[in-house]
Amino acid sequence: MIGKILRFSIFGESHGVAVGTLIEGLPPGIEVSEDEMKELLRRRWGLPESSSTRREVDEPQIISGIFKGHTTGAPLAIVLENRDVDSSYYEEIRYTPRPGHSDYTSYVKYFGFNDYRGSGFFSGRLTAGMVLAGYFGRKILEMEGIAVKAAIRSVGNIVAKFSEDELFSSKDPICPDVEAMEKIKEKIAEVRSDGDSIGGIVECVARNVPAGLGGPFDDDLEGELARAFFAIPAVKGVEFGMGFQLARMRGSEANDEFGVKNGKIVTESNNMGGVLGGISNGMSIVTRIAFKPTPSIYKPQKTVDLRSLETKEIKLHGRFDACIVPKAVVVVESMMSFVLADHLLRRYSKLHFMDKFKKDKEMG
Ligand SMILES: Cc1cc2nc3c(=O)[nH]c(=O)nc-3n(C[C@H](O)[C@H](O)[C@H](O)COP(=O)(O)O)c2cc1C
Repeated sequence: MIGKILRFSIFGESHGVAVGTLIEGLPPGIEVSEDEMKELLRRRWGLPESSSTRREVDEPQIISGIFKGHTTGAPLAIVLENRDVDSSYYEEIRYTPRPGHSDYTSYVKYFGFNDYRGSGFFSGRLTAGMVLAGYFGRKILEMEGIAVKAAIRSVGNIVAKFSEDELFSSKDPICPDVEAMEKIKEKIAEVRSDGDSIGGIVECVARNVPAGLGGPFDDDLEGELARAFFAIPAVKGVEFGMGFQLARMRGSEANDEFGVKNGKIVTESNNMGGVLGGISNGMSIVTRIAFKPTPSIYKPQKTVDLRSLETKEIKLHGRFDACIVPKAVVVVESMMSFVLADHLLRRYSKLHFMDKFKKDKEMG
């Protein structure tokens, strides 16, 4: 489960009956719309240049937790049927694990009982459940005026240029830098025609987050966000603010100096990405998530037959994404939204009780 008082899990397999999400701890009375859910799910389809040819309709089927357009407060389950499935090819590679994929580790962990069709539970298809869970996180954040937005920052060596304001004002669902995106699409098409894949970075920012969310140890906001991001398949790095660049700086360059703006404590720079001591400091939470190149590629690669231990060459011919990053933008946004909503509920329930405690004392 991701989250503490607001929690979600995902279930299903890439080529099984369905995928979905189970959410617990949602407040009752949140107004929700299936059209909005579908719109978010559509963003996960990515770009034609980069995405596999698998086409799912992504029609959410609400099993529980929603009644007359509002959350009921009961466990909420939504499923998305898998319709466009072709498993024929996976028997061929059952015992010859794809380099870079989870085939080998899932075979070992589950003693060969894992559903290997389309990578089973390890498939990117499961991220549709993350997007659905994130939808409810967003709804909670919206009530507090908190906005979360992600975009492609880079693919290969092509870096998109955009400021935080441009990110939030842009209507583009994937990247505000149109010029960079043209180059990125060309690069992905080139890599794909080469039978290869490419990685990249998604940047995600949360605005208007109040100071005080998180904690110094197991509540650490960076730690909990990172855990949620690493639950997304293919994530290999997460940084906050200036991240790894901070390791090359002096304190005098790195520290964000404090000031006051409109009666509110702010920092003049945001090198720390909005978190100090594991706790939000009221500045935007800025994070970058590195995605590796899609492991399934069409170039021949060396592997080992798990039964005979003979070295073999495999050449894949299934349906794969040439670049995961365009699909991942909304997935990253969803994880950030869900984790922040959980932290907001934790903080607010505490404040609520502190208020009550004060009132009780006043009343003697
Ligand atoms: C949205 C999304 C789509 C993905 N599509 C593919 C794909 O088409 N082919 C593939 O081999 N891996 C794909 N992956 C990545 C694998 O699921 C992932 O690399 C694999 O499960 C191993 O996990 P790890 O990379 O986290 O170690 C995708 C991941 C995401 C998030």
